[in-house]
Amino acid sequence: MPSYAVTGTSRGLGLEFVKQLSLAPSNTVFALVRNPSSATSLNQLAAQHPNLHIIQADITDPQSLVAAAAQISSSTNGTLDVLINNAVSTNTAVAPLLPSQIPLDVAGTQDFFKAATDSALYGAIWTTNAFLPLIEKGNAKKIVHISTGIADPKVIKGTGIANVVDYAVAKGAMNVLVAKYAAELEPKGIKVVAISPGWVDTWEGEKPAEVGEFIRFTLEHFRKLWPDLKGQLTPEESVKMVLEVVEALSPEQTGFMVSHHGDENWI
Ligand SMILES: NC(=O)c1ccc[n+]([C@@H]2O[C@H](COP(=O)([O-])OP(=O)(O)OC[C@H]3O[C@@H](n4cnc5c(N)ncnc54)[C@H](OP(=O)(O)O)[C@@H]3O)[C@@H](O)[C@H]2O)c1
Repeated sequence: MPSYAVTGTSRGLGLEFVKQLSLAPSNTVFALVRNPSSATSLNQLAAQHPNLHIIQADITDPQSLVAAAAQISSSTNGTLDVLINNAVSTNTAVAPLLPSQIPLDVAGTQDFFKAATDSALYGAIWTTNAFLPLIEKGNAKKIVHISTGIADPKVIKGTGIANVVDYAVAKGAMNVLVAKYAAELEPKGIKVVAISPGWVDTWEGEKPAEVGEFIRFTLEHFRKLWPDLKGQLTPEESVKMVLEVVEALSPEQTGFMVSHHGDENWI
């Protein structure tokens, strides 16, 4: 009866992770969400799947993660098999800015990076540390952080995407963190990995003009590296592939970022 905890499950890939995982009745799935009462789709899903449990947790609030881990521990006898840390927040206002446009003042620079760093770096640390005692007692012993191929320097150089600095830097830091955790936890048989889910259309409803423009910009730049790229994956396609990678995780992959293909093909 494998148990899974997934962060950031109100929408997008997080919602799709718990949707696919809860389809197997033998899985016990804990959907961590910042605001359970407003997570309409998640609540509807949980109403159909008795093995899906909604737990409040904000990855930028360590005490909420400790409380979530305690709640899960009380229903799993202190264990958890797989942690999938999927949540992220960024400041969309700073996404268009280039590195040379980061302000030359301390508060402005900290503000520029705050949302991305709080979630992708500190959130990854706090989520891991809150759940580590449960993972140590689990059978599968897997910790997965959802990262992004656009934090790979080869992708940045090959596509020429110079903006979206806060997000790429915070996810790059997450990838190094994954290597550090893997170095610490490998002797305990715990695998820690970063997985890039590919380029996925997780926008709900009609896209505003600026989102459409951002997608066109990204496609144009991605095609410098991948000329045959048609467009984005669906959440269903991406999550199915990521879960196959999680299932088959090898000792060689621990400590690294791998793609939804299990290699370094980020598209
Ligand atoms: N979509 C892509 O093409 C793509 C590509 C590469 C990597 N990724 C990665 O895949 C993951 C999911 O992406 P997505 O496209 O599904 O993102 P998304 O649609 O923006 O969803 C983000 C989720 O994270 C939650 N969240 C944000 N801040 C949180 C916090 N402090 N605590 C708990 N939950 C929080 C949001 O919930 P609220 O309702 O509470 O805001 C939401 O459920 C992210 O790590 C992202 O970097 C995505």
